[in-house]
Amino acid sequence: MKITDLKRQQGEFCLHIPSATFETGKIHGIIGGNGSGKTTLAKLIIGILSPDSGTIDYEGLTQQDITMTGQKPYLLHTSVYQNLIYPLKIRHIQPQKDVVEYWLEKAGLQHKQTQYALSLSSGEQQKLSFIRALIFQPKLVIVDETLSNLDPDSVHLFESIMLEEQSKHPITWMTISHQLVHISKLCDQVHFMEGGQLLQSGTPEQMLYHPTHPSVIQYLSNTEVSFKGRM
Ligand SMILES: Nc1ncnc2c1ncn2[C@@H]1O[C@H](COP(=O)(O)OP(=O)(O)O)[C@@H](O)[C@H]1O
Ligand SMILES: [Mg+2]
Repeated sequence: MKITDLKRQQGEFCLHIPSATFETGKIHGIIGGNGSGKTTLAKLIIGILSPDSGTIDYEGLTQQDITMTGQKPYLLHTSVYQNLIYPLKIRHIQPQKDVVEYWLEKAGLQHKQTQYALSLSSGEQQKLSFIRALIFQPKLVIVDETLSNLDPDSVHLFESIMLEEQSKHPITWMTISHQLVHISKLCDQVHFMEGGQLLQSGTPEQMLYHPTHPSVIQYLSNTEVSFKGRM
């Protein structure tokens, strides 16, 4: 995916990305402080927001191929099953029993198919929202802080699902997270945002262990785990 001269003003905040490339089939981590524009960028890519100017070249992908999971799972007021098959329904795809069972089991929700989705625990709701995003075999998935507030086992589950899917059929992932261990473990490329700009991109090693941009160094200096100089 290629971004060219993308601009969006909202209030005092202005997102401006002159040029960026997110290589297809790779796991991209987006890091940066609160209010740096990560979610705005995600929404522009998904199409929830329209840019004031600029272009996003999806290199052949359509709206049918892309999806996003947020920090708050937006579940429908219906059963776990109906939530899970919703992306298939709107794409006029018949849900296959074995596919539904596969995903429910992955998320540990196999005995909760008929349960009202909003009565699940918050972690279970996040897991449901995550497998719902994957059930239709998307080609671009944005994970916007979906891992926040999850216990370590659940984070590990999300990570293993991402890597397993990646080994079967490459998806372009964009994972927005402050969990730098997660970013370091999973990502092929890391992109740092500040003040609506994409300031620096590189491998996890370059970005987390040998950062050169003063803003990236500053961001990392305030994290719980000190990455700088640890490799
Ligand atoms: N509708 C809006 N009107 C005015 N400002 C907005 C609006 N939506 C978002 N913003 C501002 O845009 C900035 C970037 O927000 P966001 O992309 O959500 O940041 P991040 O996800 O990196 O924390 C923030 O300062 C936020 O207050
Ligand atoms: Mg955000």
